[in-house]
Amino acid sequence: MRNTRLLSIGLFSVAFGTGAFFSGTAVSKASNVDGMKIYLQHCKTCHGVDGNPTDLGTGLGARKFADPEWQAKTTDERIIEQINEGTPEMMMPFKEKLTPDEIKALVPVIRSFKE
Ligand code: HEC
Repeated sequence: MRNTRLLSIGLFSVAFGTGAFFSGTAVSKASNVDGMKIYLQHCKTCHGVDGNPTDLGTGLGARKFADPEWQAKTTDERIIEQINEGTPEMMMPFKEKLTPDEIKALVPVIRSFKE
């Protein structure tokens, strides 16, 4: 009985170790996605280098990402949804242009803008 338990703990750590190895690979792959680079490539024309909207962005109705109130009430899911779907007439959707990993990498960039 005791031995069986020890054995299963042993097997569990082997499985866990392998899992960590693979997810470690996945993580390092994801971190190769440079969110800021994507932001500067696709978003700064409207949202500005520092998250303050450009004239174009302001004209279309973009807000300041640095606004603490907006940061507090906006979830990561909402940011991802906005990038995927956009807003008709205001912001184009990006789900066909960027991969899910690239879109996810933009969340910390949006979060990094502070007043
Ligand atoms: C053509 C100009 C334009 C571009 C390019 C653009 N946006 Fe926007 N974005 C807007 C406008 C305008 C709004 C306001 C839309 C609204 O209030 O529904 C907005 C809103 C947002 C919001 C806020 C949504 C909310 O709930 O308040 C986020 C987050 C966002 N954009 C992220 C991005 C990211 C990331 C990119 C680049 C991948 C990007 N945008 C590219 C114009 C743009």
